[in-house]
Amino acid sequence: MNEMNQAISNIGVVPVIKLNNPIRDAAPLAKALCAGDVPVAEITFRAAGAPIAIKEMKEICPEMIVGAGTVTTIEQVDEAIAAGAQFIVTPGFDGEIVDYCLKKGIAVYPGCTTPTDYHQALKRGLEVLKFFPAEQSGGLAKIKAMSAPFPMFKVMPTGGISLKNLKEYISSPVIAACGGSYMVTADLIDNQKWDEITELCKKSREIVKEARA
Ligand code: 3PG
Repeated sequence: MNEMNQAISNIGVVPVIKLNNPIRDAAPLAKALCAGDVPVAEITFRAAGAPIAIKEMKEICPEMIVGAGTVTTIEQVDEAIAAGAQFIVTPGFDGEIVDYCLKKGIAVYPGCTTPTDYHQALKRGLEVLKFFPAEQSGGLAKIKAMSAPFPMFKVMPTGGISLKNLKEYISSPVIAACGGSYMVTADLIDNQKWDEITELCKKSREIVKEARA
């Protein structure tokens, strides 16, 4: 695996974040994640201030890996890169966006759930794919079935992952890391429950370490 894929895989969980108030919340959230030993964040473009959040998080915690999620246009890729994003996540497979990211030299994790998606990823030499929405698309059973014809990929499932099923997913060698909003819900962020976020991160990391021991 390349350096970025390996670094994300080593952490094992990727918080998927929608920040409504990045000026207020990005810095304390970055600190809360790092304190919980989860120095990675996927900031979704579902909220308008995503580039501000990415910039702020990188400034406050330069050691953190900060990427952009829910990227659906080339313009958003440019905005994300300009803000300092280190990876791009897309909900589905958009060949134009993937090719653009590869040209720009930024890691890209397109959402893939079908053999057709995997073929497209294979053609482009990707190593790690987002598998989205994971639970709703057949969960770990489907991920394992897909890895029979496509053993070259590791996946990052997101969608329906929580402390309840994290262990099951992360125990599989097909899984690079699990994405989720469970440790960074709207309630936790809007009510600035930073200590709770740190605790959820710590618990997640314990599960990852245990599963891989
Ligand atoms: C994503 O964008 O990856 C998902 O919406 C995260 O799914 P979750 O909220 O079920 O964790």
